[in-house]
Amino acid sequence: MDSADYQIPPYFRQAPLLLDSLGTETSVVQDETVSECLPLLNAINDPSRSPFDFNEFGLPCLEREAHIGFLHQSLDEFPAPYVGIDASRPWMVYWALLGLYMLGEDVSVFRSRVVKTFYSMQNPNGGIGGGFGQDAHQAGTYAALLSLALVGGEEAYSLVDREKMWHWLGRLKQADGGFQICEGGEEDTRGALCALVAISLLNLPLLLPPDSPARDAGLETFKDGLGEYLSRCQTYEGGIAASPGGEAHGSYAFCALACLCLYGPPHETIGKFLDVDALIWWLSSRQYAPEGGFAGRTNKLVDGCYSHWLGGCWPLVQAAVNGPGDSAGDKTRDVSENLYSSEGLARYILCCCQANGGGLRDKPSKMPDSYHTCYNLSGLSIVEHSHSYGTSDGDDPFGSAFTWQSSEAQIPSEWDANKVFDAGAGVKELHPVFVIPHGAVKAMRDWSLARPLDVQGAE
Ligand code: FPP
Ligand code: ZN
Repeated sequence: MDSADYQIPPYFRQAPLLLDSLGTETSVVQDETVSECLPLLNAINDPSRSPFDFNEFGLPCLEREAHIGFLHQSLDEFPAPYVGIDASRPWMVYWALLGLYMLGEDVSVFRSRVVKTFYSMQNPNGGIGGGFGQDAHQAGTYAALLSLALVGGEEAYSLVDREKMWHWLGRLKQADGGFQICEGGEEDTRGALCALVAISLLNLPLLLPPDSPARDAGLETFKDGLGEYLSRCQTYEGGIAASPGGEAHGSYAFCALACLCLYGPPHETIGKFLDVDALIWWLSSRQYAPEGGFAGRTNKLVDGCYSHWLGGCWPLVQAAVNGPGDSAGDKTRDVSENLYSSEGLARYILCCCQANGGGLRDKPSKMPDSYHTCYNLSGLSIVEHSHSYGTSDGDDPFGSAFTWQSSEAQIPSEWDANKVFDAGAGVKELHPVFVIPHGAVKAMRDWSLARPLDVQGAE
């Protein structure tokens, strides 16, 4: 088929055929969302509706330079109303750096600035807060560690006090296997992922420190009881909640799945602790037509940031279903066709989420921001790449997490002419578990492996 003949599939350009006849607040906002997306999804037929150029498959090209400019601005000073997100400063750094990296920029030039910024955010207890003088928090620590990994280098890696970090994380480990997000704070799947990211990247001892209260409950390692805790977070819908008994939500699903990929080889851990059929059913139900994007939870609206939180679940689940590749890259099974519609996701991101003037957004009626810019770009990166992992030797408790490889997405040959997401995007590949470049993961891990912590109680 010639690309000139390419037709956008009807389900991505028409209102849904089955409409809910009972109007509710939910159905009204859903209809409004479809109405704001449809003209942009169809703009190839009326280019006056879109400021962008289109490729032959009806997709606007990625406005790379405008998005780079937007992310640079997001690292400048903010006006007073932004004081409300003061505690998210580590995240502002991470979203901007990761977005710039995915767009092909060299982010190592930010090293000194990043080190200076995080130096003052360290808490004497070893964790990192949202800003100077703020309490240590795992979410800020996670964003800071990933930012330090992104800029790389001795100056960045040596900023962290790894021994104090080990003790702090030990105090966050709970008797039921999960982790608090900060001392005295909520226990949820975010805390579990952030803790395992820090422990694995920084090569902290797996044994709990002697002063960890979880030891009183008989736990010995950071992993003890964690798989069972995450299992209890899966809900009757098949998705995963922040904590047991909560509502399934895409962002917490990503946290739980990525955490299980650190806990052990995904084909073992995901199948052992989760009902995979129910999970796949729930994940599939999060992608809507005609919008093409993902909604975070049942009966809610599509939002560009879920291109990452939900889009990012798919490579992990698909890899778990496939099993590890051997040294030749052959897998036990080969789910080469994505279990979600990558075409739909690419259409939503490129048609509906690019703001004129730079930056990406939740949906067309929203303003762009660096969070949505970063996570829409991450969604494009997921669309454009395939991910697999291998086997590792038995000694390393996080071994399989460091074997992931990415390649350009394999499109079945009969679809070649429909390579709709080849829109000049060329967004860089990321490690699907750590959500930073593969090289950044390896460099920080290797630096930490070369400096094993010699701490009392961890022999
Ligand atoms: C908002 O729900 C929920 C989010 C914006 C997701 C927040 C992200 C996380 C919990 C993941 C954090 C990850 C780490 C690693 C710390 P909403 O009710 O405003 O939106 P909805 O209507 O789309 O559900
Ligand atoms: Zn969002």
